[in-house]
Amino acid sequence: MKVAVLGGNGQLGTDVVLAFRGAGGHDVLPMTHAQVEVTDPESVRAALAQGRADVVVNCAAFHRVDDCEKRPDEAFRVNALGALHVARACAEINALCVYISTDYVFDGQKGMPYTEEDCPRPVNTYGASKLAGEHLVAQSCPRWIIARVASLFGRAGPRGKPSNFVEAILSKGTAGEPVRVVDDMRMSPTYTHDAARALAHLIRQGATGVFHLTNAGACSWFEYAEEILALAHLEATVEPVRSSDHFSAARRPRNSSLRGLKVDGPAKQSLRPWEEALKAYLDDRNATARREP
Ligand SMILES: NC(=O)c1ccc[n+]([C@@H]2O[C@H](COP(=O)([O-])OP(=O)(O)OC[C@H]3O[C@@H](n4cnc5c(N)ncnc54)[C@H](OP(=O)(O)O)[C@@H]3O)[C@@H](O)[C@H]2O)c1
Repeated sequence: MKVAVLGGNGQLGTDVVLAFRGAGGHDVLPMTHAQVEVTDPESVRAALAQGRADVVVNCAAFHRVDDCEKRPDEAFRVNALGALHVARACAEINALCVYISTDYVFDGQKGMPYTEEDCPRPVNTYGASKLAGEHLVAQSCPRWIIARVASLFGRAGPRGKPSNFVEAILSKGTAGEPVRVVDDMRMSPTYTHDAARALAHLIRQGATGVFHLTNAGACSWFEYAEEILALAHLEATVEPVRSSDHFSAARRPRNSSLRGLKVDGPAKQSLRPWEEALKAYLDDRNATARREP
């Protein structure tokens, strides 16, 4: 199978490339922003027509939530119209179009994890632009997967933000800085290594449709920070704060935890409990530090 990965050097894209390469037997083409501009239909069409991939995984996004609120044009240009251009180009070459979406398509009012059967209702511009992207993909390409992921941590680190949450907490804990984290928002922390492997399994199984690909379980950001510091054997204490004590441009859902009802077999096995995934991430990080002091 020939697999093109847009945003192929991003946090998730890097692990999608590795997941397919690790499985063997696939021709994997990572495509960076420098090579393809998703907001430009000609750039997308030319790149994808040249590669003639069987599968296109679109990890490209503008996902800084507060910046999306301030720059809605850009959010919709990248996350919605960009998704449309990719989906149309996939239709032209008869490729499966895989769009990476988010837990932020939900409003947070549900008292338990959201499944693929729940109705999205975003509360911020980022979520609205991603939901628009989902709709445009589903209406423009005959074969598609919408894979919703959440609160990602991965070894490559996010390109669109200074660091992922795990690294931010580790750096504060190591520096002895106060660690204050909201305790009234719940989500499902997800290791990009695991989400990428689950996605690769789904694609190889020939799956299509909407899937929730998060590590199993959920926690508040406060509980997540405490677990990070405990696993890293850092002494710092975490102070819980309310989300209402912080001004932010974008509203955020109180509960955006996800559960994948439709994910089974090896894809489900890849999505271990988030605590185990976090430990694996930290072990990998320590092993790299030992190799590259
Ligand atoms: N990070 C999270 O916690 C999180 C949570 C839920 C959902 N998601 C979704 O997961 C996906 C991957 O996120 P991530 O954390 O891996 O993001 P990331 O590390 O910031 O990677 C995004 C990639 O997209 C590229 N890109 C940005 N704008 C582009 C454009 N206009 N045209 C072409 N490429 C462009 C970036 O390249 P440059 O850096 O060179 O611009 C980068 O390679 C996104 O769809 C995001 O919405 C992420």
